[in-house]
Amino acid sequence: MGIILVNRLKENMVLSEDVRDLNTRLLLAKDLKIQSKHVRILKMWGITEVNVVTDELDYEETTIKEIDPESLERIEESTKYLFHHVDLEHPAMQELFRLSVLSKSRHDIYKTDKKKMVDIVEDSKEKLISDLRNNIAYKKIKLPGIPSTVFELNEVIANTSASADDIARVVSKSPSLTAILLQIVNSSVYAFPTKIDTISRAVTLIGTQEISGLALGISAISIFKDIPEDIIDMHLFLKHSLACAIISRVLCAYKNITQTEQLFVSGLLHDIGRLILYKYYPEQAKKILIRAESSKELLHQEEKKGIGCKHTDIGRDLLKKWRIPFSIENNVFYHHNPSSANNQTHATIIHFADIIAHSLEIGTSGERFVPNFDHKAFDSLGLSPSCFDSVIRLATHQFDAIESSFK
Ligand SMILES: [Fe+2]
Ligand SMILES: [Fe+2]
Repeated sequence: MGIILVNRLKENMVLSEDVRDLNTRLLLAKDLKIQSKHVRILKMWGITEVNVVTDELDYEETTIKEIDPESLERIEESTKYLFHHVDLEHPAMQELFRLSVLSKSRHDIYKTDKKKMVDIVEDSKEKLISDLRNNIAYKKIKLPGIPSTVFELNEVIANTSASADDIARVVSKSPSLTAILLQIVNSSVYAFPTKIDTISRAVTLIGTQEISGLALGISAISIFKDIPEDIIDMHLFLKHSLACAIISRVLCAYKNITQTEQLFVSGLLHDIGRLILYKYYPEQAKKILIRAESSKELLHQEEKKGIGCKHTDIGRDLLKKWRIPFSIENNVFYHHNPSSANNQTHATIIHFADIIAHSLEIGTSGERFVPNFDHKAFDSLGLSPSCFDSVIRLATHQFDAIESSFK
């Protein structure tokens, strides 16, 4: 079973999964033998890829058996370190571990404990770890005011009679936001058969809520672009956020959830609390990163020890201040403990998308491990580990199509 581009479909190939349009309406059912008329239907609805049962896939299948034992041992060792904080007895984690090893083996990548988050000379490291002065208290953290684009988008979203042109007017004030949005709507994430060249057309085709939500998420995160590289590589941070957003959207399709824009934005913003620390409290952030590196604890545990709160608390407070919809704030706040969330399903999707992004080591938010796994929440989501391979392939394909626009 695997994903194949619609252009490469051959007669009599068998669908291994239902094919649905953007609104999750069933187009072609699982087990259908493909005929030329079905290819026409898929193209008409802008579907670019489907899951089929076949050996003739357009990607190179590599099995763990083909890798030389020495490299495999090294890769498994570094992956065990990456998964240090999760329960590898759980079937979902076992499957993610297998896929993580497989992905690194395909690209001949193995990472070791040597990776440094903060570039700092060795002798000042000990001093920083033991120096508890200048620690900021949670209550004293100052949050930035709402960016003007976010403010204007909030107004447009709240106005039920706002037109496509109203949204386009706000978005077009920022050429970089316009360019990113157009790149996303023209990518395989939406898979429209014809090119969308204006924001108002994107709003008409995709919907007010979805485009405004996307614009909101991108504008919110873009104010942190200038964080110096010795704290965090912002390109890697954006990669991690975008991967989480795309994986969340793909997981929604597997759970037949239609309000995907809120999940996409939640994925994009899930670690925004860390950006507040990196941008406005760089010295404290450095200490927390170095302590996490030396203690091998999860970064959010070190945040709690260092400043009395986690990045999820700061993220929640920021999104509240910026009047971002409560559902997004809720997903961001609970992404490390979705069992406690008001909307457990949505928070669990962000939680698990974050875990997948970490297990594949796509970008970084500063955390060096796969974060803690809320197996109670995951089990109630009812997602079979057998679909992880397809989820990752589809998400990776969509990620590659838009990643360059976030540079
Ligand atoms: Fe997080
Ligand atoms: Fe994250």
